[in-house]
Amino acid sequence: MTEKLCLKRTEQLYNEAMDLIPGAILGIRRPYNFVQGEYPIFFDSAKGGRVKDVDGNEYIDMLCAYGPIIIGHREEEIDESVIKQIKDKGFCFSLTQPCQNELAAKLREIIPCCEKTVFVKTGSDATSAAVRIARAYTERTKIIRCGYHGWHDWCVEVKGGVPEKISEDIHEVEYNNLAQFEDTVKRIGDETAAVIITPLGHPLAKKVEYPLPGYLEGIKNIAQNKGIVLIFDEIRTGFRVNLGGAQKLFGVTPDLATFGKGMANGYSISAVVGKTEIMDMLIEKAFLSSTFFPNSLAQIAALKTIEIMERDNILEAINKKGEKFAENIIAIIQNSPIPAEFSGSPWMPFITFNHDPEKKYKIYRKEFYKYLIRKGVFLQPYHHGYIAYRHTDEDLTFAANTIAQALEYLESL
Ligand SMILES: Cc1ncc(COP(=O)(O)O)c(C=O)c1O
Repeated sequence: MTEKLCLKRTEQLYNEAMDLIPGAILGIRRPYNFVQGEYPIFFDSAKGGRVKDVDGNEYIDMLCAYGPIIIGHREEEIDESVIKQIKDKGFCFSLTQPCQNELAAKLREIIPCCEKTVFVKTGSDATSAAVRIARAYTERTKIIRCGYHGWHDWCVEVKGGVPEKISEDIHEVEYNNLAQFEDTVKRIGDETAAVIITPLGHPLAKKVEYPLPGYLEGIKNIAQNKGIVLIFDEIRTGFRVNLGGAQKLFGVTPDLATFGKGMANGYSISAVVGKTEIMDMLIEKAFLSSTFFPNSLAQIAALKTIEIMERDNILEAINKKGEKFAENIIAIIQNSPIPAEFSGSPWMPFITFNHDPEKKYKIYRKEFYKYLIRKGVFLQPYHHGYIAYRHTDEDLTFAANTIAQALEYLESL
């Protein structure tokens, strides 16, 4: 095993942040979500598929900021279009700029369910807005949900600060369990406004799952029969598994959908899109507004990102890279006695360790990801990674070789 990284500056900054910010860092970026003491906590800069920490260690960035980086860090064409907007026009006005219409028209062209769009800032904004629109449309309150949808009261997993009664209307179901969904609808279907579901299953620390044949279609049929609005939460799958989202890839069109993350290669924007009849609840019946929603920089970045993705067949290239990477990793795992599993091919690679009664998988997980970070491969022990367009063949070959070495190292434990 190579030596532990020098993380002196990271530690200084972490101690300083402890005094300034509750817990120093928010949520999923906290050190315990990685391998504490082994991973950096602060990054300094990034370019393409690589990122540098504040101590000067460089990594192949296979977490891609948890998803927004789809092409690569500091993609010049995108940043230049944003800088041009700042210099030539400005971006924060009391009224809306015309690029809103251009982007909404583009989404209508590429996303199957999109007849109308509203732009917000974060994934949580979008999922919460979609739920509100569905409740306004159906005049019902209950929500059936499946997957992570963000930090707002109706869906946050840590319940501190959330009145219990809010959760009473929210019913969580397991991904790929159609019978459970059917049962839930039998019980509360007449009171249910919406089912919101990630079209791919990607729960924390568990393997990424594809929908079983007929699963998404089954959800859609049952929802339709009961007048329940079907929402696909495509915050991760949107602009990644297909330009039109997983709904295009799998051929199942929901009533509403949420997009974000990869939409603007790192700039903060998300969207609720869907059928006119439902989206039009925002005309009078439901309210949505925020000081920064119409800010045009991220809209400009999204337009340029989509333009490049279409022009340069970015997703085709990502698929090819991801498939080759997956092939390599699957072969490596097959040749190893370590009980590991690979999922998420081709877009969201994830290596997990099979659970065992002695809980050896926890040691494997920790030591495996420790090995990777020491060698310069930035992946997350509890969350799938992402393939970006700017990951080079050399980067991905290096990552695969390092994974092979890490598994060999686990044999020696
Ligand atoms: C599927 C999904 N929905 C919603 C969200 C919430 O997005 P945000 O963190 O931008 O609020 C996330 C974030 O990871 C997500 O993966």
